[in-house]
Amino acid sequence: MNIAILASGNGSNFEAIAKAVKCGYIKGCIKVLITDKSNAFVRQRAKRNKIKDIFIDAAEFKSRQAFDDEIVKVLKKERIDLVVLAGFMRILSVNFVKRFQNRILNIHPALLPAFRGENAIKRALKHGCKVTGVTVHLIDEKVDNGPIILQQAIKIEKGETLKNLEKKVHSLEHKLYPLAIKLFTERRVKIRNRNVKII
Ligand code: GAR
Repeated sequence: MNIAILASGNGSNFEAIAKAVKCGYIKGCIKVLITDKSNAFVRQRAKRNKIKDIFIDAAEFKSRQAFDDEIVKVLKKERIDLVVLAGFMRILSVNFVKRFQNRILNIHPALLPAFRGENAIKRALKHGCKVTGVTVHLIDEKVDNGPIILQQAIKIEKGETLKNLEKKVHSLEHKLYPLAIKLFTERRVKIRNRNVKII
């Protein structure tokens, strides 16, 4: 299965996925990294892993739709089967989502539908939650809303610092995302309407 990863930042999830592909845990090929930030650290990770990296500058496009069309052009050229969002901080247009329906994965650092949007780890901590977690889900036309594939909880300890909680969330992400992609590439994720069955 041909995979494209879209990311905007550090790329620790990108790295975890690349490692899982390299060692054969995920049976697929990362054809391309697409990023919207010219200076994103994830680009250095792509270079190190010898993965093609393409920067697409949103400022060069008149609309979100035009920017997304450019991404779709790359995805088609690379014959991409699965799109993996790994800290890609942009909302995809409806056309894009339709074009790759049930083939776009996202990871979110909270137990969706709680704490949708940005700064989810910090908000869960500030809210006084006793647990938070990580969600891997499919993208639909609403933000952080699509069918959930995998979800795992993390206990928030008394007096837990943000730094420590972030560490716990990220290390869980680095296990859960490769697992979800592995299941997907092995065609073990069955989706009917919003119902997800893992076989
Ligand atoms: C991850 O924690 C991911 O869950 C989050 O961005 C981070 C990217 O880290 N995504 C979202 O908040 C999406 N709503 P990384 O660049 O080190 O992989």
